[in-house]
Amino acid sequence: MNDKFMNTYKRTGLVLDHGKGATLYANDGTAYIDFTAGIGVNSLGHGHPALVAAIADQAAKLIHVSNYFMTDISARVAEEITAMTGYDKVFFCNSGAEANEGLIKIARKYGSSKKPDKNVIVTLKGSFHGRTVTTVTATGQDKFHTFFGPFTPGFVYVAPNDIAALDAALDDKVCAFLFEPVQGEGGVNPLDAKYLAAAEALCRKRDILFAADEVQSGIGRPGALLASKKLGVSPDLVSVAKGLAGGVPVGAVLASGPCADILQPGDHGTTFGGNPLAAAAAHVVLTEIAAPGFLAEVDRKGEKIRAAVASWKNPLVKSVKGMGLMIGIAVSVAPGDVVAACRARKLLALTAGEDTVRLLPPLVITDAEIDAGLEVLRAVLAEMAAKA
Ligand SMILES: Cc1ncc(COP(=O)(O)O)c(C=O)c1O
Repeated sequence: MNDKFMNTYKRTGLVLDHGKGATLYANDGTAYIDFTAGIGVNSLGHGHPALVAAIADQAAKLIHVSNYFMTDISARVAEEITAMTGYDKVFFCNSGAEANEGLIKIARKYGSSKKPDKNVIVTLKGSFHGRTVTTVTATGQDKFHTFFGPFTPGFVYVAPNDIAALDAALDDKVCAFLFEPVQGEGGVNPLDAKYLAAAEALCRKRDILFAADEVQSGIGRPGALLASKKLGVSPDLVSVAKGLAGGVPVGAVLASGPCADILQPGDHGTTFGGNPLAAAAAHVVLTEIAAPGFLAEVDRKGEKIRAAVASWKNPLVKSVKGMGLMIGIAVSVAPGDVVAACRARKLLALTAGEDTVRLLPPLVITDAEIDAGLEVLRAVLAEMAAKA
């Protein structure tokens, strides 16, 4: 392994070369079924012809201009994403953490326009919002909080699905409640729809922005454009990123209502955000997702995987959870051991939280690829159960 990289990732040792659909090929030619999609990024899989062509065509025209200029493709994607999600305005950036930084700045400017000290943001325990100092502070998990203080002030954490705790935390200093509709990194746990509805009502009553981090759950993965919509709520602010451009770095903050116009020239910006290359890729992803039946297929495939795992009745499986193709399998062994055993048999999967195997396949995965991947997972879990 190359020792010139900083030691930030526990890399697997696998060196990947190319891919097609939900199959990845290592540099020695070995094929792997991809149940990870680059951590929920490659929504159209690998080597998608329309995505590849759009990126190549756009690269030949313009890769980047600054945000002082508009391009037709960026304007088109801004129209598409707002129309499809029902939001008034969008701000494009480059990553999930950066989208959440933008969301937090919008919330704080909105809050301070109401009352100078209305700047606190309430988030949930078990959440994950990113790796910048402020988004790591927003993240409600102690394990991410070592070494990097002092942290950004003004964050309060409450337990998910506890409306009394939220009610108590939402005082007049709070400008926003930020939540993942489906906690991804924390274990693929969808929030309770009744809790979210009550939380939305509390926020509306107290003029607190109701803000969803859909960096992982957004843009088709839950079998809907946004998981929040599927859970029946309409956040004022939503951050998205991962799957939006199928692998080209992009992030976005979507906003409706008064907070949508709160940022003025000079308040916020980013050099690369929403550049024509990312926009061309996002256009293809949004076009594919908008095709009739696409989201229903995501739902069907997600249900198929969940039902298959449940049908094995493997004693190591504690629960099967998630939404659409965002799937968590809580296990009573170390989830990293399951993932390693799957990889040895040419299936790539992820972990989440303390006890969960996480599956985030490309949204375009075929039934044949699903069946092949599930057969590996079934066999791995069966062998581990026999040894337990
Ligand atoms: C819900 C959520 N928010 C934010 C982030 C941070 O995104 P990025 O790694 O693109 O900065 C992630 C990444 O896993 C995420 O899952």
